[in-house]
Amino acid sequence: MTETAQKLRVSARIDDRGEIARIRFVPDGPGSLAPFEAGAHLDIYLPGPGLWRQYSLCSDPAESGFYEIGVLKDPASRGGSAALHNSAQVGAVFATEGPRNHFRLEESADRTVLFGGGIGVTPMIAMARRLHALGRDFTLHYCTRSEGVTAFLDALEGCGFADRVVFHFDDAGAAQRLDPARDLPAPAPGTHVYICGPQGYMDWLIAAAQEAGHASANIHREYFSADVELGGDGFEVECAQSGLTISVGPDDTIVKALAKAGIAVEVKCEEGVCGTCLTDVLEGEIDHRDQFLTEEEREDGDIMCVCCSRAKGPKLVLDI
Ligand code: FES
Repeated sequence: MTETAQKLRVSARIDDRGEIARIRFVPDGPGSLAPFEAGAHLDIYLPGPGLWRQYSLCSDPAESGFYEIGVLKDPASRGGSAALHNSAQVGAVFATEGPRNHFRLEESADRTVLFGGGIGVTPMIAMARRLHALGRDFTLHYCTRSEGVTAFLDALEGCGFADRVVFHFDDAGAAQRLDPARDLPAPAPGTHVYICGPQGYMDWLIAAAQEAGHASANIHREYFSADVELGGDGFEVECAQSGLTISVGPDDTIVKALAKAGIAVEVKCEEGVCGTCLTDVLEGEIDHRDQFLTEEEREDGDIMCVCCSRAKGPKLVLDI
């Protein structure tokens, strides 16, 4: 728990299709909600498993009365989503931080195409709401396994931009499945694509967008979880501020090795998607394992996610 946490109370809950709960939060007591931009997420502390987890806001950025998120009851999650799905009943209070935005919408784009896979549609809904309010040219492609498990279906079919939403159901025939050759827009400097969903979906669409010729700066992505391989060869980390040098074993992470030496680094997702643990690197070659940094930031080689990334060589010097 952190000192900046704000207590929010569940004011409403809709158990939607596909075991997705749509949960609304209001301040617990007096106070107001901080404004947020489309693409932003809320950090929520889950006391049971003792985890911080990130949930994209799907409510309208113009809505100041509540925040809304969608939570999948995911049996394969590491405990976070299932715990929140169970415990976020009306009246329950949670410590939260944010909203923060690592998935910014280029609001002045000539054309925007949003791709949401499953629960990855949540930030896209906030973006679509914002683009609609701005009168921008956009399309939202929403991919799910089947119509029967498609949360937000009724809300999207009845909204003011329903004509800009294209549903793709895996079980409804090849003709309406997402086809990158047909559904990706033509690359252009003013055309931006946004992708969020399961890792395989994202890897597939990002590769297709790159192959189609979209500039990497115009392919925006947000991973909500990642299969990150944490292990590797051992190496040393020198902490420039304290002068301490620690060893990171093959099965250790830098964060865990630092914690054993009494140096705490704040972490939230612990799988390289939230950016909380970003640390300046003064020397050494980084083996980036995260999904948070851009290609350009990786190439600069002076910052890393210490919850999961490692060293390519024998030693890193960190500014901690
Ligand atoms: S804690 Fe989230 S990226 Fe490291």
